[in-house]
Amino acid sequence: MNVTADALSPLRPRPEGRALRAEISLGRITRNFARLQQIAGDRGIWGVIKANAYGHGAVRVGQALEAAGAAGLAVSNLEEALELREGGLRGPILVLGGLRAEALPLASLHGLTVALVGPESLEAYAGLLPAHPVKLHLKLDTGMGRFGFLPSELGECLDGLRALAPWLEGLMGHFATSDDPDRGFSDRQRRTFETCRSLLQDAGFAFPQAHHANSDGLLRGYLDDDTHARPGLALYGLTCIAEGHALGLEPALELIAEVARVKTVPAGTAVGYGRTFVAPQPLQIATLGCGYADGYRRDLGNRAVVGFGGATYPVVGRVSMDYLTVALPSGVPIAPNEPMVLYSNDTGAPHSVERMAHLLGTIPYELTCALHRRLGRAYI
Ligand SMILES: Cc1ncc(COP(=O)(O)O)c(C=O)c1O
Repeated sequence: MNVTADALSPLRPRPEGRALRAEISLGRITRNFARLQQIAGDRGIWGVIKANAYGHGAVRVGQALEAAGAAGLAVSNLEEALELREGGLRGPILVLGGLRAEALPLASLHGLTVALVGPESLEAYAGLLPAHPVKLHLKLDTGMGRFGFLPSELGECLDGLRALAPWLEGLMGHFATSDDPDRGFSDRQRRTFETCRSLLQDAGFAFPQAHHANSDGLLRGYLDDDTHARPGLALYGLTCIAEGHALGLEPALELIAEVARVKTVPAGTAVGYGRTFVAPQPLQIATLGCGYADGYRRDLGNRAVVGFGGATYPVVGRVSMDYLTVALPSGVPIAPNEPMVLYSNDTGAPHSVERMAHLLGTIPYELTCALHRRLGRAYI
């Protein structure tokens, strides 16, 4: 039998119809952006959409942020930047993690902006930039201890930097503890930033842009003379600090899985690998097609709850690669294909991303970034 592509097309999965999908509200992201823009005032916002926009889908989120008025988009590496260009995004894209000099021609071709993350590449950049120009943001290590020029290195780098002066557009740092209610270390980082900026200005450098604040730095108003801020997490409506909750940020993502099977089991039935859950009474076990391969953490088994019909029910047994199981009392009406909510977009819900991250002793970033590309993403 000949099967044509057309005949098969109804079988192709559509994100909206996928049994496992993240539903992402671009409206919520746009409103979160507007709230952050209000705090930033007339400063520009580089919307941080690395790691597939923290799992929310980089191209669609990038489009929404550009439409909302973001000054630019920030990603981690060249591949992420190129994905945005391929997706049709034409505005400024800042590669936060820097680039090896060999990649400059490609970056130039695609009009990327690149963080200059240390003295080691000065010479190679100076050789390539005249033919392959890119805008550079000079990164200072004001206390994060990873990327960036140390203040102690700047003096001896001035000549090398002078060769790059025509391409220097920005000066940037990164707060290490802006989530800490004690702002002492953030203030120290800011002072270091200002000292470096003065040193560079005295040496004749001018930077049209300066930015140091991530979400928490912005939410706490650690902005000083910066021209821009670089929030990520708060754009998605997630936060770990009181200022973020007070702002009424709206979580943009809901993780939904439709029930694949329901079975009624008698008391004493064990469920899943390792038999870690044994039904204490007759129960309905709903199996959902979501597992750790999708980014739902294995250690949520026997700990998390999912939402269904206005109530929550426990995830029982081990989470496996492709499936998890939920226990419902007999009598709760449940049938295959009905949607259950694994991550709620209601901040106060016990299965919100923030609460689940807290339960696991981690941060919301880790949970949404882990959402695999294989699950459907539907934009609402
Ligand atoms: C250099 C840089 N700037 C900004 C951000 C955004 O941080 P947040 O998501 O906490 O706002 C990150 C994220 O890790 C980052 O690495």
